[in-house]
Amino acid sequence: MVKNKKILITYASAIGSTEKLAQVIAEGIRKVDGVSIEVKRARDVKTDDVVSANGYVFGSHSASEYIEGEIKTLFEGLSPVKEKMSGKPVLLFTTGQGMQVLALASIEKLVDVFNPQLIKPSLAVKGMPGEADKANAIAMGEKLADAVKKTQEPTYIVA
Ligand SMILES: Cc1cc2nc3c(=O)[nH]c(=O)nc-3n(C[C@H](O)[C@H](O)[C@H](O)COP(=O)(O)O)c2cc1C
Repeated sequence: MVKNKKILITYASAIGSTEKLAQVIAEGIRKVDGVSIEVKRARDVKTDDVVSANGYVFGSHSASEYIEGEIKTLFEGLSPVKEKMSGKPVLLFTTGQGMQVLALASIEKLVDVFNPQLIKPSLAVKGMPGEADKANAIAMGEKLADAVKKTQEPTYIVA
């Protein structure tokens, strides 16, 4: 039996624009059959949610010229399972009032330690996503889901 693949979407959002973008990306993922979605705020994510996922969407709003602490804390806690995330497709996105590109560079740097298969282009959006941002987000969600379906994961042999 072929098991459905799962994408974890997780984000840090204070007012709602990052959350909205996460929902729009989910719309794009839903266009692809055979991929399920789990959506959680970064502070609610458990290590098992991450290990059991086959691909990821990580998003943050800009905060003090960086990313939100909640998402940084999540990445720090995932260090012990970084091998289990290695090679899996990852889409990154940020929002901000001008510093969203800088925040994107920060999140890309943090995620790099997990050896991701980055699905590009990442998304950096000013404030609440407009129609063009939504169209891009849907397209990128679909692209990520296609990559997740195609990615073969290693089989671990337990001696
Ligand atoms: C505490 C805090 C700090 C912020 N710092 C920045 C910043 O340094 N640069 C920036 O461009 N936007 C900053 N913003 C604005 C938010 O990143 C921006 O409005 C974002 O779209 C809000 O996302 P949200 O609706 O998901 O909370 C800050 C917002 C908050 C609440």
